[in-house]
Amino acid sequence: MLDGREILLGVSGSIAAYKAAELARLLIKKGANVQVVMTRSACEFITPLTFFSLTGRQAYSELFSGGEEVATAHISLARQADLTIVAPATARTLSRIATGSAEDLLSTAIIAAHGPVILAPAMNPQMYQHPGVQNNLRTLQSWPQYHIAPPGSGEMACGEFGLGRLAEPADLVAFCESVLRGDVQDLVGHRILVTAGPTLEDIDPVRYITNRSTGKMGFAIAEAAAKRGADVTLITSVHTLPIPAGCRPLFVRSAADMAEAVHAHVEDASMLIMSAAVADYKPKEVADKKMKKSDDALSIPLARTLDILASLTPSRHRVTVGFAAETHDVVSYAQGKLSRKKVDMIVANDVSKAGSGFGTETNEAIFVRPDKEPEHLPLLSKKQVAYDLLDRAKEIFALHKEART
Ligand code: CTP
Repeated sequence: MLDGREILLGVSGSIAAYKAAELARLLIKKGANVQVVMTRSACEFITPLTFFSLTGRQAYSELFSGGEEVATAHISLARQADLTIVAPATARTLSRIATGSAEDLLSTAIIAAHGPVILAPAMNPQMYQHPGVQNNLRTLQSWPQYHIAPPGSGEMACGEFGLGRLAEPADLVAFCESVLRGDVQDLVGHRILVTAGPTLEDIDPVRYITNRSTGKMGFAIAEAAAKRGADVTLITSVHTLPIPAGCRPLFVRSAADMAEAVHAHVEDASMLIMSAAVADYKPKEVADKKMKKSDDALSIPLARTLDILASLTPSRHRVTVGFAAETHDVVSYAQGKLSRKKVDMIVANDVSKAGSGFGTETNEAIFVRPDKEPEHLPLLSKKQVAYDLLDRAKEIFALHKEART
């Protein structure tokens, strides 16, 4: 994949800049030609000479120094590269790229790039969680040309713990290869259980109680997870949507069927995404023959169904995500569900809002977690919400792993 390919390696100013030298070395070992572009502050952490020694090419750093050759370098660099990778990508560099602000050679070259661009963030955990940084990442990720190589979790150079550590150079090389292959497989090894759509609670052989869920959100999650290399089991009552490529469907009908299927598979799962709108009530009795009408009013006694999420034993080996569809007090209801159902995240949405909720192609979701402030996403396609949700689930998985060790 990398043999003979032109790679533009952007290095911005972070203590992790030293890892870019190892990345350049590994890329060259795989046969790639590496051209380094550094921000001015990157040069404070590592010298252009280091990269010259490794790549055999002068590392560019300034937009308007070094004469004609460098002044037009951004265009030729951008045209020549089969792939651009920025590692480490600081908050400032991400912001420049996300806003199209061509302030230095690195951001200018990236904005002018034709090929795929991988951004590998590296920063202090508090900075990484900042809504502005997260917004920039979301903006960048929504453009097909850009790919985010998620940071790892651990002790930072500043002594803090958390997410924000530059991904390891060997992982970044693998990421480059998968982007060049056309598939970013960052969920390989994950077994993901997704539930989608409504449940159907029979009254008699011809009638049932259900709800307005269509399954679109859950199918989008299953599709995105499979595309990202996960082993996906999709538990659903929906037969009208195509099963996304690579997903194993398990068709169910009632809340009880769904509970049985989830319990049978959850032990092996590294993530459970309960996007199904499971009925809270079912008819107490199911008539085995069609009920005949009479002139009298009819009452059907209902019984509670099992709360599937609440019935599971919480585990740090699994990320569990629930959904909440509300029409008011969205965040506070979602926070209640977080603790009652003992889940890692609730994806809440206000179904009274235009473009959000049942049957729509879009959702305005809020990610509610016990460990941070609610994250309000803008109105996005369900596919994009699915990608963001899986990014968060991956992040929580890394935090669980960290906590286990
Ligand atoms: N859920 C579940 N088992 C049920 C009902 C719901 O696991 N019997 C899951 C759903 O898949 C979803 C979350 O719980 O992930 C939704 O919580 P729930 O309290 O059922 O939401 P609402 O029905 O909207 O809550 P309420 O009726 O209290 O507003």
